[in-house]
Amino acid sequence: MSHEDFDDRARQILRDNDRGGYTIPTRGLYPYQWNWDSAFAAWGFSSFDIDRAWTELETLFSAQWDTGMVPHIVFWKPDPGYFPGPDVWGAGQEPATSGISQPPVAAILARKIHAAYPDAGEPRLRALYPKLVAWHRWWHRDRSAEGVVAITHPWESGRDNCADWDPGMARVDGSGVGDYTRRDTGHVDASMRPSKQDYDRYLAILQFGRACGWDQAEIVANGPFYMADPAMTFILIRAHRDLAAIGRSLGEDVSEIESWCADLEAGLERIWNADLGAYDARDLRTGEFANCLGSGAFLGWLAGIENAEMEARLMAVWDGVRYGIPSNDPAASEFNPRRYWRGPTWPVVNALIAMGFADAGREAEEARLRRETVELIERGGFFEYFDPLDGTACGGDHFTWTAAIWLTWASPNARRI
Ligand code: DGY
Repeated sequence: MSHEDFDDRARQILRDNDRGGYTIPTRGLYPYQWNWDSAFAAWGFSSFDIDRAWTELETLFSAQWDTGMVPHIVFWKPDPGYFPGPDVWGAGQEPATSGISQPPVAAILARKIHAAYPDAGEPRLRALYPKLVAWHRWWHRDRSAEGVVAITHPWESGRDNCADWDPGMARVDGSGVGDYTRRDTGHVDASMRPSKQDYDRYLAILQFGRACGWDQAEIVANGPFYMADPAMTFILIRAHRDLAAIGRSLGEDVSEIESWCADLEAGLERIWNADLGAYDARDLRTGEFANCLGSGAFLGWLAGIENAEMEARLMAVWDGVRYGIPSNDPAASEFNPRRYWRGPTWPVVNALIAMGFADAGREAEEARLRRETVELIERGGFFEYFDPLDGTACGGDHFTWTAAIWLTWASPNARRI
């Protein structure tokens, strides 16, 4: 198949997963609108249908809570094939949503979507801007009060079962969550998904949030899980900067956004693990570091954070695999090349890391990462993630964000804005 054929297939995937104003990640496994998946879908659409790109973001933000939070899932239409659905979350919203958020990539990608077609996008961006500011204010108030971004549920990071969360998850008691039936393992081989113990704990954390009516102050103060994450911190630093740039272009006062960003930059030392020689996830209840080197740390370049000591460690991690940036160090005892975020490489994360490489002028690294990602997709198709050792395609097929990053970044025909 030619690159043009792959481009056609990627566009077809976005159209197939379009449910009318929003895009599902893939049929069966993820039948609703997911927050960061949707922002990537919008970016993908911007390569061939700019109006549809803005609609995707507008639909996502139409489910924004009064608090400013943009939820991680919007349950637009009932679907019994997914667990946990809206009744389990009990978030009391209309439309029904989950009770947590997801990586704030929307401002980063909205800026790129606008840059693709500035004139057409101006009014749409202007209308979206106050909603983005309200969401970033929520991140500042409810998730970065300690100078680093801290998540209250592994699902909030989008990297559900990565080893970064092991210290925090070990302290979560999942023994009392009651009976439930998972649906994900009916769509994808169980060996590629989080374990039963993980799910028990995910539900215990969810049940705490539901029991307190999703009171964020209570969740942050007493919730069963609360961990600082370099990846989320890097993403939010970058997103704050992009939001400030958007605001400036619209003639807005962006001093509040700049102050949020400065707070995070100053807080980075809290998540520097000197023993590891890298920024590292940290349990804020105990102070314990995760001692984990994975794709999250590579997002430093996205925030313009460079560090020679960390770079040497990270490049050894990358050199330890054949394809893409692994979600965990292949030398770590808990590395698993096919189990979701315990080792696999994710094209969508590779695209974010490559964005950082490109902006830092690291052309050789950007080209290498793109080459390896292209090879994975050309050999395996538009899957959710891949084994970084032998390139085996894993997880869901016909996947929206893999198609989206193909069109905007990986394809030799991409404009790469
Ligand atoms: C899932 O259901 O696997 C999701 O990652 C939760 O958001």
